[in-house]
Amino acid sequence: MWDERYSAAEYAYGTTANDFLAANASCIPKGKILSLAEGEGRNAVFLALQGYSVTAVDASIVGLNKARKLAEENDVAIEFIHADLSDYDLGINQWHGIVSIFCPLPSLMRKQLYKKVATALKSNGVFLLEAYTPNQLKHGTGGGKSIDLMQTKVSLTSELSNLEFEHLLELERDVIEGKYHTGIGAVVQAIARKIT
Ligand SMILES: C[S@@+](CC[C@H](N)C(=O)[O-])C[C@H]1O[C@@H](n2cnc3c(N)ncnc32)[C@H](O)[C@@H]1O
Repeated sequence: MWDERYSAAEYAYGTTANDFLAANASCIPKGKILSLAEGEGRNAVFLALQGYSVTAVDASIVGLNKARKLAEENDVAIEFIHADLSDYDLGINQWHGIVSIFCPLPSLMRKQLYKKVATALKSNGVFLLEAYTPNQLKHGTGGGKSIDLMQTKVSLTSELSNLEFEHLLELERDVIEGKYHTGIGAVVQAIARKIT
């Protein structure tokens, strides 16, 4: 599905960074960031332009090819990895930040991935996320139709219990990002730090 969506010439979610990420990226200590489900590169390019060293993972080769093009156009170097997050090795004490912007994984896969997040972050490292909540189903302005792919404050606190949340909010906001995020959206936002 994602390869097909990304086959259009236009960027499905635009080329501008996600608003929540753009407003809060400075919470992440300068250094290495892993971007989960990066898609066509808008967020990775933004982070690289802020001076971070970015590794971007996605399962869509078509999306990653467009991401490479966007990185070239912006004259930034980004490491792109074609991988499925179900078996991607996040490493140990690797990252100053892990970013997840609209990364719709089945809950079982997501829980397995999140077990690795705290270990993969460096001390003081930050996990930053925005995702649709089940309330998004009433809007139809983006995201899929499966509640299993959505997240809430409750799921995040349970699945990332070894991180310290500095921001955790469910809200409705305008999410206008390309052709597929088209208006008022029900989202959850999180900024959580590894304190060890
Ligand atoms: C809604 S798009 C968001 C892309 C990007 N994060 C953004 O905000 O522009 C969801 C992305 O998740 C990726 N994805 C979905 N399941 C995945 C998986 N199991 N492993 C890696 N990437 C996955 C898709 O390829 C797609 O690029």
